[in-house]
Amino acid sequence: MIKAAVIGLGTISAVHLDAIASNPEITLAAVCDADESCRDRAPAGVPFYTDYGEMIRRERPDTAHVCLPHYLHYPVSRRLAEMGVHVFCEKPAAMNIAEAERFAALEADHPELKICICLQNRLNETTVELKRIIDSGEYGRLIGLRGFVPWYRDPEYYRQKPWRGTWAAAGGGSMINQSLHTLDLMYYLGGEVDRIHAMTGQLNDFGIEVEGDVVARMEFRNGARGLFFATNNNWANESVQIRAALEKGVFHIEDNTLYRVGPGSDRQVICRAARPAEGVRFYYGASHARLVERFRLAVETGSDDYIHVRDAVMVIRLMETIFRSAKEDRLLEVL
Ligand SMILES: NC(=O)c1ccc[n+]([C@@H]2O[C@H](COP(=O)([O-])OP(=O)(O)OC[C@H]3O[C@@H](n4cnc5c(N)ncnc54)[C@H](O)[C@@H]3O)[C@@H](O)[C@H]2O)c1
Repeated sequence: MIKAAVIGLGTISAVHLDAIASNPEITLAAVCDADESCRDRAPAGVPFYTDYGEMIRRERPDTAHVCLPHYLHYPVSRRLAEMGVHVFCEKPAAMNIAEAERFAALEADHPELKICICLQNRLNETTVELKRIIDSGEYGRLIGLRGFVPWYRDPEYYRQKPWRGTWAAAGGGSMINQSLHTLDLMYYLGGEVDRIHAMTGQLNDFGIEVEGDVVARMEFRNGARGLFFATNNNWANESVQIRAALEKGVFHIEDNTLYRVGPGSDRQVICRAARPAEGVRFYYGASHARLVERFRLAVETGSDDYIHVRDAVMVIRLMETIFRSAKEDRLLEVL
């Protein structure tokens, strides 16, 4: 049994609180938000703090969930590590590659601590099965991989939480905030990426400074061709799609389902992932609780089976290469 604390009681915290509440091996020791008006979000009987340092000193939790704006992920995680607390940090690991490398170095400097980055979609049943199919070689070599994120964010989304639309606090827009999971799965499923040529834009015309749209052509080391397309300017939030073309079969993930696509575009269901719990946005997926349990096991048994900081650095490197390529408008090596 471990004691967990949650720092940041905004939108995503409800999913973390549910994952903790539904895990019989975790008790919620305390919660924290710098905004006093979030006090009523603390579950009944759970102490609320506005200062996370004070919360850690007083309550001594084993683990702390970092559910904060992006610019705080690394500094708060570093302070938690210095206080001897295991960290479960929401994505992204960092705002940019320099910070991601500092975070990975912090992890390496603290082998006694578990630090997990919440890229939970790697654990979706559909992802696990597609990765098994690709890695098994059963259908031959990977030829092409496409990630497509057709979402919508209205002005109200940015007005409610002003950090979201800014370079200084979010580190970007559509990529770091909305489509990071899919960009991460491009790498997780397709392997190392050697080169990228990308374009970014902001098509919404309501004055957000960060990018809202991305198209990136990716050259994988194994010879496969990749296309990543993410936008916050669809008319609604529709399902993420991932399509993998192998020499002897085409596979497609959409609506929490993995299909094999036949020659006439007919689809045969390979597996259906669990749907997120009632009230959880469908696009978060249902894997937070699964990753929280893996992290709990890692903390209690010393197991290594969770998403380390070092595993979460590459997606930041891809994102940064996309930004550089778009700025220079040319094909770039992923350094
Ligand atoms: N894994 C996923 O699928 C997923 C989904 C949504 C959001 N997220 C991530 O979760 C994180 C939080 O996003 P959100 O939408 O919940 O943000 P949010 O703005 O709704 O919540 C952040 C909370 O942190 C609090 N806060 C800010 N500074 C603080 C401090 N110093 N100490 C304590 N509290 C502080 C704010 O008052 C706010 O309540 C982001 O990194 C986001 O990318 C992940």
